[in-house]
Amino acid sequence: MDGASLLMGACEALMAGLLLLFATLRVVELSDLYLASSHHLLLHLLASALLMRLARPKRLLGAAVLYGVMRHAIDARPLTLPDELTLAGTNVVLAGASSGIGLALAAQLARLEATVVLGCRDVAKCERVRPQSPHVRCLSLNLSDLSAVKTFAEAVGRHIDRVDYLVLNAGFLGKHGARTAQGIELSFGVMHLSHFLLTRELWHLIQRPHPAGLPARVVSHASAAFMAGELKSLLVGDGMGDVHGEVVDGCLTWENSFRDWVVGGARSMAHLYFNTSLIAGFPTLCPIAGAYSRAKLAQVLFSQELQHRVDESALRSSGFVREVRSIALHPGTVRSAIVPLPDWLVRPTDVGAHGLMYCLLGDVPGGSYVDEMRRVHNLLNSTSGGMDVQSGRPDGYFYSLPIFMYMRVTEGVPARYRAALWDVSETLSAPYASSKRWPLTHD
Ligand SMILES: NC(=O)c1ccc[n+]([C@@H]2O[C@H](COP(=O)([O-])OP(=O)(O)OC[C@H]3O[C@@H](n4cnc5c(N)ncnc54)[C@H](OP(=O)(O)O)[C@@H]3O)[C@@H](O)[C@H]2O)c1
Repeated sequence: MDGASLLMGACEALMAGLLLLFATLRVVELSDLYLASSHHLLLHLLASALLMRLARPKRLLGAAVLYGVMRHAIDARPLTLPDELTLAGTNVVLAGASSGIGLALAAQLARLEATVVLGCRDVAKCERVRPQSPHVRCLSLNLSDLSAVKTFAEAVGRHIDRVDYLVLNAGFLGKHGARTAQGIELSFGVMHLSHFLLTRELWHLIQRPHPAGLPARVVSHASAAFMAGELKSLLVGDGMGDVHGEVVDGCLTWENSFRDWVVGGARSMAHLYFNTSLIAGFPTLCPIAGAYSRAKLAQVLFSQELQHRVDESALRSSGFVREVRSIALHPGTVRSAIVPLPDWLVRPTDVGAHGLMYCLLGDVPGGSYVDEMRRVHNLLNSTSGGMDVQSGRPDGYFYSLPIFMYMRVTEGVPARYRAALWDVSETLSAPYASSKRWPLTHD
């Protein structure tokens, strides 16, 4: 046996071992550590196997089938809702909903008789695909232009007088060198900045009390990719160092080089699991470590800071303030326009939408991050309070991968990161906002 086949054999054994370990951990639910991102890890392993095995398609097929079977065996089960549940009289605003998970959620909400406003950049497409219910409406919303956000929010105000659930769902895998109408790097601009402004513009409707005392919820559709995100520029100078894509540039597209995807994936996974600097010498690759991850990290930070400010303002206020819960979600690897893979390989779109549904209806505290198995990780509470006396780490640090990685990507000072992001976002979006202040602005 020559050295190359020995290496292949070792890689395969490692891959099989890891697959088995992850499957076992999932099945017996031993620990939270394996939960978020395990699908990503498996996909990357598969991709690596593909690269190694291009000349051996049968083995590749075998690996894909193994993954598919495993996915079905260990994946999150569909959410079951009580038969009598109705959302009649509840208003939902869903940003980015003309395909994928957002559209599936719209259909589920329509079945529950909620009033749903879909914000879509292509209204004709939205009208074609939307659930056929008199309670569902399509309005124009192009999140790559901040000035369109205010117009959309005004239109929302003409259709509903209160927002109970705001779902910040729009997303895409980076486009190389693309910018918003304001010249902001596109992933950051669409997935974070415009969602930020939208929340601000709808805030007065979010704050209106529900007759039955229902808390409002703002759900940021993030991703486990946040764990590979990098926003260090926020803490340098005015924090604006990379908003135009000076350092990072989006290039996670299926068309881009497969090699980049595999190597980038392996690199970010190694970073994710082992936090090793051994791989620092690799060329900087866009995929998981690029613009998409950065935008997803921004979404997680925003959802945390929003909750923090809501809690603070509730403490300061002497009058009634509606309870608002801000929640971030990783849906798993779900079939959609972003992930055009078959249901047997990845999570079906409907089941993916159950993650969002859980964030809207489940017993999820504000400031949480919900992972692909619908496990709730209380990021805000565990990372902004005092550290565990024994370990000097936040609660959950050693058994919750999202908490562990959140602390790592924010260099142990998440509060500084989220505050800096908020300031940068306010400055950038202020010229496009309808008023100079929103109640959550610090003096
Ligand atoms: N699928 C997954 O495995 C996965 C995993 C982790 C996180 N997520 C997140 O889940 C969310 C939904 O994605 P998906 O997987 O359902 O993909 P999708 O099918 O591509 O849906 C994304 C939606 O965002 C909309 N959108 C994109 N750019 C927009 C813009 N500038 N203005 C307004 N709307 C815009 C798209 O509109 P058009 O129809 O006009 O393109 C589409 O309706 C995203 O935030 C994504 O990052 C998905």
